[in-house]
Amino acid sequence: MHRLLRLLLLVALPLPPGGAAAQSVQARDDGIEVERGTATLRVTALDDAILRIQAVPQGRLPPGEPWAVLPEWRGRRVSVRPDAGGAGFATRLLHVTVDPATLRLGIGDAAGHTLLAGAEGGTLDVPGGGFRICQHSPPDAHYMGLGDKPGPLDRRGRAFVNWNTDAYAWQESTDPLYKDVPFFMALHHGAAYGVLLDSTWRSFFDFAAERRDAVCFGGEGGSPDWYFIAGPSPKEVLTNYTALTGHMQLPPLWALGLQQSRWSYTPQARVEEVAAGYRATRIPLDAIWLDIDYQDRHRPFTVDRGAFPDLPGMVRRLGAAGVRVVAIADLHIADLPYAGYQPYDTGLAGRHFVRGADGALFVGQVWPGAALFPDFARARTRRWFGSLYRTLYLDDGIAGFWDDMNEPVVFDGPDKTLPLDAVHRVQEPGVAPRLATHREIHNVYGMLNAEATAAGLAALAPERRSFVLTRATFAGGQRSAAVWTGDNSATWNHLRLSTPQLLSLGLSGFALAGDDIGGFRGSPSARLLTRWIEVGAFEPLFRVHSEKGSAAHEAYEGAATEVARRRAAIAERYRLMPYLYEAAEAASRTGVPIMRPLFLEFPAAGLEWVDGEFLLGRALLLAPPPDERADPYRLVLPPGTTWFDYRSGRRLPEGSVMLSPDVEGLPAFVRAGAVIPRAPLVQSTATAPEGRLELLVYPGADCRGDIYADDGVSRAYRSGAFLRQHVACERAADGLHLIFSARQGRYVPWWQGFDVVVFGERAAPAAVRNGEAAVAARFDAGDGTVRFGLPDLAAGGEVVLVR
Ligand code: NOJ
Repeated sequence: MHRLLRLLLLVALPLPPGGAAAQSVQARDDGIEVERGTATLRVTALDDAILRIQAVPQGRLPPGEPWAVLPEWRGRRVSVRPDAGGAGFATRLLHVTVDPATLRLGIGDAAGHTLLAGAEGGTLDVPGGGFRICQHSPPDAHYMGLGDKPGPLDRRGRAFVNWNTDAYAWQESTDPLYKDVPFFMALHHGAAYGVLLDSTWRSFFDFAAERRDAVCFGGEGGSPDWYFIAGPSPKEVLTNYTALTGHMQLPPLWALGLQQSRWSYTPQARVEEVAAGYRATRIPLDAIWLDIDYQDRHRPFTVDRGAFPDLPGMVRRLGAAGVRVVAIADLHIADLPYAGYQPYDTGLAGRHFVRGADGALFVGQVWPGAALFPDFARARTRRWFGSLYRTLYLDDGIAGFWDDMNEPVVFDGPDKTLPLDAVHRVQEPGVAPRLATHREIHNVYGMLNAEATAAGLAALAPERRSFVLTRATFAGGQRSAAVWTGDNSATWNHLRLSTPQLLSLGLSGFALAGDDIGGFRGSPSARLLTRWIEVGAFEPLFRVHSEKGSAAHEAYEGAATEVARRRAAIAERYRLMPYLYEAAEAASRTGVPIMRPLFLEFPAAGLEWVDGEFLLGRALLLAPPPDERADPYRLVLPPGTTWFDYRSGRRLPEGSVMLSPDVEGLPAFVRAGAVIPRAPLVQSTATAPEGRLELLVYPGADCRGDIYADDGVSRAYRSGAFLRQHVACERAADGLHLIFSARQGRYVPWWQGFDVVVFGERAAPAAVRNGEAAVAARFDAGDGTVRFGLPDLAAGGEVVLVR
């Protein structure tokens, strides 16, 4: 039936005056195809919310890139309703039209509101190669995304380039940086949509910078292949985008603890000394990182046995103290023929290295000196590279790996990377093999390096969750690795920049992101390090890192007052670990990031002070001071919402409040309508907390929270070894009800029951009942709390604070 329709609706449109190119519109059962002269444009509905738009100036549409979009979307499509006139179609959520004279696209929602309207300025044929697409930009539309780009979260009024770059000493206006995430979200009057430009070429995005009324984007090569991703809520855009490009994997629990890094902790005794420093000062710590100097002359996959005489022994001892070891293993393989260097020997034998245009192996200078570069575009090469981790991972006990310099950096290369005409072999399952230049592969190289690492670790220890950190990546790179923002600086301005940067990464699919806490370059003052730790304690990845020659960045170093503040911030993160872990687990299924701008939860709230405030999970709002000054500053709250001060438990006035940077710790607030799980303090996530799980209940509209737990390290959660319990609260005529769902999963938790604290109560309840049983409760008129204990309600239950 649909095929028939397709044939019948082949509409030849009249030639426009002036002898312009011939046009034809062909309705397809999954979209529309328009020809104008030699050009073809096709819009395909992959599902009701996701459209793929491809075009070529002449010839056939190419099959598309295998990198960003998950293979299961290849060939996915839904049937659409064609427009009577033939130049458009509708899915359940979207209405699409194409103007055959200009090939401009219009996309509206089911209610008839325009979401996107093509604008002049687009071309399929930029002289010298590439294309440009332009869309109308309403003056009050906002644009977010593009990964790690610094500066304001709202990209409006700025133009950017995507070209993965080692941007040492980057500043607020530096562009490009390390990552290419050609995805943005547009937000207009509370309604959002997303755009993924599936192009690996150097690309550009202009958000109403050159022309105030147009957003234009394009690539330096190839032809347009992009996706329109419907919301209408910003969260739905992210859910749809990560369904298309993949979710982050659930990280091991330790990866959410404090991680201490430095370039470089060496020798072995120094690593143990740092761990001991944390333990001696009772500051929790989960991991220590080894930078390039643990290696023999910076050769990846080797160990300097002089400095590290017993790496497995050191790893074991640290492990016993609850500290894991993460190690760097860069992609560049030292050019060492006849030296017994296995990565070189096996790499050469397997033809795994990139060659220049002249066919000779490309050799460039990086940390080890002369080095070769794996051709990660080849699936076989990725498998080989993944196998190189065997000794470090399985024998030495290294818990996670760090993929650095993978833009890739070549110190003496043209433009500090591989020559643009170097040759890659694209050999992917399900894709026709072909050769491609580095110009085309450059932007995916780092992501494919991280994919090789993650898949290699999974193959070596299939039962274990892996942890990989990468510097360069591409759209979809969230599937294999966490990311960090590279070589920032130890300045107050860089601390301020870290919030919009991490929010942007979250809005670009990268939920597990962090920055070098304390600043990589230079020496933070004790105060700056403290503040950075206070902010970092609420960021997804909590990793302190610094450059050679900079002052100490360890939390335990310095004046006792500073150390005490850092300890308090880190301890609070550890206590909030059940809440944080639940947010991470949800992100791994839904793509909704751990760290969120307010508009993600309150799309109608606008973007006021969007670069300063942020949410951790759904409920916790953090408001770092804007700079180092002690001046009071204003926290703007979404209209019509109610918040509690996290520390005092007091309800805030509506609208906005003035905050003082001098209060103990980072100002933190909780939305009314939340249940937050919190645990007794431990010094490492390797230790199970003892006692009971605290449940902090903040009554309000849509009151809820989730408890999630599993063993924290294995993949057994995928086959039922997890625990999930939903807790809701509801105000009714007879009082406040706490409703515990029955637990899902078979994981047996560490807690023996719950300690409940209900905030914002004006009077003592007449009684508290757990089903039929009376519960002893304590009301504190001073802070408006009601506190009581509950047994572990594994089968669910209902507790009432009777009025
Ligand atoms: C560059 C990375 O960005 C930095 O974090 C690291 O310490 C150095 N390379 C040395 O490996």
